[in-house]
Amino acid sequence: KDIRFDYSNADVKRHEIENLKAQVRQLHHMLHKKTGAGNDFLGWLDYPKDYDQEEFQRIFTVAERIRKNSDAFIIIGIGGSYAGARAAIEMVGHTFHNLLPKEKRNAPEIYFVGHNLSATYYQHLMEVIENKDVSICVISKSGTTTEPAIAFRLLRAYMEGKYGEAEANQRIYAVTDGQKGALRQLAREKRYETFVIPDDIGGRYSVLTAVGLLPIAVAGIDIRKIMAGAKDAWEAYHGEDLEGNPCYQYAVLRNILYSKGKVIEVLASYEPSLHYLAEWWKQLYGESEGKDGKGIFPASVEFSTDLHSMGQLLQDGRRNIFETVLRIEKPKEDIRIVEDEDNVDGLNFLSLKSLNEVNDHAFEGTLLAHTDGGVPNLVISIPEATPYYFGKLVYFFEKACAMSGYILGVNPFDQPGVEDYKKNMFALLGKPGYEALGKSLRERLYK
Ligand code: PA5
Repeated sequence: KDIRFDYSNADVKRHEIENLKAQVRQLHHMLHKKTGAGNDFLGWLDYPKDYDQEEFQRIFTVAERIRKNSDAFIIIGIGGSYAGARAAIEMVGHTFHNLLPKEKRNAPEIYFVGHNLSATYYQHLMEVIENKDVSICVISKSGTTTEPAIAFRLLRAYMEGKYGEAEANQRIYAVTDGQKGALRQLAREKRYETFVIPDDIGGRYSVLTAVGLLPIAVAGIDIRKIMAGAKDAWEAYHGEDLEGNPCYQYAVLRNILYSKGKVIEVLASYEPSLHYLAEWWKQLYGESEGKDGKGIFPASVEFSTDLHSMGQLLQDGRRNIFETVLRIEKPKEDIRIVEDEDNVDGLNFLSLKSLNEVNDHAFEGTLLAHTDGGVPNLVISIPEATPYYFGKLVYFFEKACAMSGYILGVNPFDQPGVEDYKKNMFALLGKPGYEALGKSLRERLYK
């Protein structure tokens, strides 16, 4: 029972893989000896085996407190300070977590904010939490990111109005840089309980730190098992040899396909609970590889829903796509299709069949159809959607991403391109210091 990677439907020849073997070995050493680009952001690499146990214990204790005294838990963050926690809660938790009766949920309702600038979203959230006891966790490594900072300003005011400042401060938790940033300063002043994001771990590689673990633990998921999975992944994917390392094989295969013009990778899943895992994956790969005029465009689809929409394009559109299917071998639940005497719908050939079996055949049929249609298919299978395999899968993708970025020849740990929109937004909003840019942008926009 393990994560498996199958590239037998990728239409790639043996020698194409062999050709990259030596390069992978060399890049593996570059990664582990920390001599490559972005080497000051490699804290995630050995983290699963040497993380701060004391802080880990504190996450437990705090999560327990929040679970006891809160009906709703609001997580503020964006990008790497958001996607991983949501991915875990959705993948491992109950599909309708917030709608379950409280005694069944055994955790507060979970809400995410700070990942958009929609007034409607905030207003609606405020309506939902109105009569509930609330705790808040604000997550920002820089402590200055605009979207979560605005969210925090709004929710801080709400909390102080609702509980008075003293109690509000006890219901607010911050995950941020150990020393710098506006959030750290505010946390000091208000004496919020805080957790530290290590300097050498970038946002999109941070889900196994307090960034992900605190919200995940509050949602009632066993974070010890997540870290056990990540630690086993560290061990399992530690080898330099391509043959024995599925994580490097995935990195190699996607680069071979990219070099043949497959510039879009579609992550496909057959379980809706993987929706946010795919969102997290898109950020990881898109932000890590999309630079210097290069990069695979990471997209995602959910089957069978999207077989009735994007399925057409996948089967029959421009042949610049490859597909990576993320499979859960044994889904959490199964149900049997009922027998119907009248059989008006003609579905009695499915009577008493398991719905998972139907879903599996949808996967197999689609795999062959898409492969026949010229879309190479890679398959990553995980045995179960458990905390353990979430931890293992996260590390699998992170390490594969580092290797893949190095094969591509980029720095997988920076994100210079995300600054440009911010500069323009600040200039248009009249932030002091941006006057000249603001003037020139307005001339272009409103001429
Ligand atoms: O991967 C990244 O570095 C980004 O996606 C950041 O996580 C995101 O911009 C949020 O940054 P911060 O945690 O500083 O608010």
